[in-house]
Amino acid sequence: MGKLLIEGGCKLKGKINVSGFKNAAVAIIPATILAGDKCIIENLPNIEDVHVLKRILTQLGGNVSFDHEQKLMKADTSKIEDCFASYEMAKELRASYYLLGASLGRFKKARVSFPGGCNIGSRPIDQHIKGFEALGAKVQIEHGIIHVEAEELKGAEIYLDVASVGATINIMMAACRATGKTIIENAAKEPHIVDVANFLNAMGADVRGAGTDVIKIHGVDEMHGCTYSVIPDQIEAGTFMIMAASTGGDVIIDNIIPKHLEPITAKLREMGLEIEEYGESLRVVGKEKLKKANIKTLVYPGFPTDLQQPISALLTQAEGTSIITETIYEGRFKYVDELKRMGAQIKVEGNVAIIQGVERLSGTEVAATDLRAGAALVIAGLMADGVTQIDNIHYIDRGYESIEKKLLSLGAKIKRVE
Ligand code: EPU
Repeated sequence: MGKLLIEGGCKLKGKINVSGFKNAAVAIIPATILAGDKCIIENLPNIEDVHVLKRILTQLGGNVSFDHEQKLMKADTSKIEDCFASYEMAKELRASYYLLGASLGRFKKARVSFPGGCNIGSRPIDQHIKGFEALGAKVQIEHGIIHVEAEELKGAEIYLDVASVGATINIMMAACRATGKTIIENAAKEPHIVDVANFLNAMGADVRGAGTDVIKIHGVDEMHGCTYSVIPDQIEAGTFMIMAASTGGDVIIDNIIPKHLEPITAKLREMGLEIEEYGESLRVVGKEKLKKANIKTLVYPGFPTDLQQPISALLTQAEGTSIITETIYEGRFKYVDELKRMGAQIKVEGNVAIIQGVERLSGTEVAATDLRAGAALVIAGLMADGVTQIDNIHYIDRGYESIEKKLLSLGAKIKRVE
């Protein structure tokens, strides 16, 4: 298994291009099942989660190709007749649960083993199930497999108890092929909800209100193939903003939607960083000394939980005491022990981490515990004295495209060793 070696202390300088949004891509690829036709998806990130979904669609009978250079997938799902995603397939990633909504919409049934993904908390799927049942499906869980089946899907009013990204997207997909109108209240509002809704509409669906907390879906009889381009990755962009800040660098982050980054931009400015916004790019200019900050993770447009770990790594070098409150995932502080091995002073009490800034972290051997934990360790390595060796980098490869190549182009001293 590969490792990353990082020699800290280099100021990052230059420009990087942000890839397509992982969390939109991993919903859009399963959603092609709804078309039963040829779809062309552009601006896909070349990451492991996309490769896994390509394999799953192929195993289900789809004709799928992915051009890594062009970032373009051609997916013809016309030959898929049924969806049974075994444990071997579904355990690879969280987004395998989107096979349920897409297949329920098209075939009125699906069988999918419980999804895998990052171990960051309990991650129930009760809201997905509640939505499918409201649309008229019977849901049974036997031997770790979720069976959903409906004689007919009928539009319904569904109030989500939590504004879940996964449940909103799954219900939206199934409801596209229900008869009548579905209303999802307390829907998630994250940028990728809007992207998936736009993709569904490009395939002939009628989804309105995505990006607000009430989404209305008028069921349609038929959907068809389309060509669609995925939006830029809000979380990758935020991670690179934090990386630029961590090294006191001067970096232009290109191919972004600045609006999606407002919660991060605001926090980094509060910490003393200079951030200039242009149409589709941002310039982050680092400072020698960073101010402390208090952060609470919230659903969009609040501070995203997926950047909690990266920004916490940065705050280990800020002056004073910062307080991080994680409100989405109870298990998202596992990486703290790794940061402590590098000299960070962090105390975790329940869902709160208290970070006392230190002069300098020191490089050592650490291991990623999940995807964003891996990004946090890369940030720690960029700031640390000496060499940091990061193990378990398969987590990082699941969600960040060519992270070491992008960092090398900014002047970082980073090497992948097998
Ligand atoms: N929840 C429930 N019941 C449900 C669904 C969710 O109680 O049926 C709770 C969860 O336990 C959690 C909260 O609701 O406390 C939010 O979960 P949500 O469903 O929004 O998250 P998800 O769909 O499992 C996606 C991303 C995550 C990202 C979250 C929040 C994908 C594949 N995953 O997860 O991404 O953190 O939304 O924005 O899109 C990552 O990229 O590192 C990552 C973990």
